[in-house]
Amino acid sequence: MARAATVHVCSECGASSAQWRGQCPGCGAWNTLVEERAAAAPGGRGRSGGGARTGAAGRAQVRLLADVGTSPLERMSTGTGELDRVLGGGLVPGSLVLLGGAPGIGKSTLTNMVLAHLERGGRRTLYVSGEESAEQVRLRAERLLLGGEGAGALEVPVLAETELEHVLDLLRERRPQACVIDSVQTLACAELGSAPGTVGQVREVAARLLRLAKEQGTTVILVGHVTKEGALAGPRVLEHMVDCVLQFEGERERPYRELRALKNRFGSTSEAALFEMRHDGLAEVLDASARFVADATRSAGGVVLATMEGSRPLLVEVQALVAPSELEQPRRVVSGLHRNRLALVLAILNRHGRVPSGSCDVFVNVVGGVRLEEPGADLAVALAVASAASGKPLRGAPRACFGELGLTGELRWVGHPERRLQEARRHGLEGVIAPPDSGQGASEAPTLRDALELAIGPLQTGSEPPTDGLRSARRIAA
Ligand code: TYD
Ligand code: MG
Repeated sequence: MARAATVHVCSECGASSAQWRGQCPGCGAWNTLVEERAAAAPGGRGRSGGGARTGAAGRAQVRLLADVGTSPLERMSTGTGELDRVLGGGLVPGSLVLLGGAPGIGKSTLTNMVLAHLERGGRRTLYVSGEESAEQVRLRAERLLLGGEGAGALEVPVLAETELEHVLDLLRERRPQACVIDSVQTLACAELGSAPGTVGQVREVAARLLRLAKEQGTTVILVGHVTKEGALAGPRVLEHMVDCVLQFEGERERPYRELRALKNRFGSTSEAALFEMRHDGLAEVLDASARFVADATRSAGGVVLATMEGSRPLLVEVQALVAPSELEQPRRVVSGLHRNRLALVLAILNRHGRVPSGSCDVFVNVVGGVRLEEPGADLAVALAVASAASGKPLRGAPRACFGELGLTGELRWVGHPERRLQEARRHGLEGVIAPPDSGQGASEAPTLRDALELAIGPLQTGSEPPTDGLRSARRIAA
């Protein structure tokens, strides 16, 4: 195939250059030049999403919103209730979904299961694998067959191919209702000379697939790798193009996987789903609270948090370890939580709870690989650290808590207190420490100090904040 003329365009300032350069000649930014075709293909590149309807002259017409007809979105169930919920009720025909995640997290497994379910329901599907051979895909499908969810896994047509043009031709010919591209970084457009996975290639691949998805109503799931920093590799551009961005996360050593929607044109982005990787594929974890509470410790440093995952309450355990540090700058190690949030909680604990940790290493871990994004987690982190520092388990542990900490040491109201309390009660946790106005059944604490007294015991009152973490911890324990 003849190589089309290409230019290198800066993704920051739009300056173009005939050759690739490390530094943009226009704005001086590094590594921003992206290879693009010099002229748009006939019919436009459809970069904007291809949603506009063209009029008689082939141009989009201005219409009143009132005159724009809508049809209720019919959705395809993926066979996994949890995934359907994150998607906003299932896959929307003709939509483009980006599924991101670290290698080995289970992206291929999840997409295989979805296609198997669709195929079982009589829909046409196609699995395009640029990473694995057809044999490898079959081996995975056989594993899925071991579980009940995998029926239909061997009926999924698979294409091991990395050339975009061939994939597009086949999609036009077979017109599947759902197609998985595993992964978007392995396909390449021959017209661009660059290697697969470069920003220019990834953008071109996604743009052409997007056009096809809208034209023939095929739902396309793009699997994408994430970089070490956790961003979707190369293609931030992709996030603008696609209808839905799903992020699959978890720790490889643990079986739990969390799926979140970072962007969703057809649903909410606050939903998250929990899966467990088993020998026969991914299983939905329907009562995650029960598992986490059953495992929760009664020792010092362990606190059960009643959190919200989107619209669902979830009980998770937050654990802390506080130990004297030998370093000039003591360690602050977090897992499942933002470091800055821990820094804030430690500062509030020091100032308003008289629990200084300046000379201690502090480790905080959210058990089960769950990531806490909501401010309601503050109190649990504070209590876990205070309990670890004092060496005393929470009174009546395991008991749950939730609430946001204000900078003046007050405990602030957070959303859905009644659902959190109900979830705690359902799992036998009474005396939930919560901010004021949380409702019946809560042990309300207006300030952090009140919460500490409820959870750990009477605090020493003194005008000078103590400077030694362990000394003060002992005072709390006393
Ligand atoms: P995979 O879906 O290939 O991950 P990704 O496509 O995100 O790179 O699966 C990753 C891991 O999951 C792999 O190391 C093996 C394990 N696994 C199971 O534990 N059970 C299973 O049924 C399958 C299919 C995989
Ligand atoms: Mg894979």
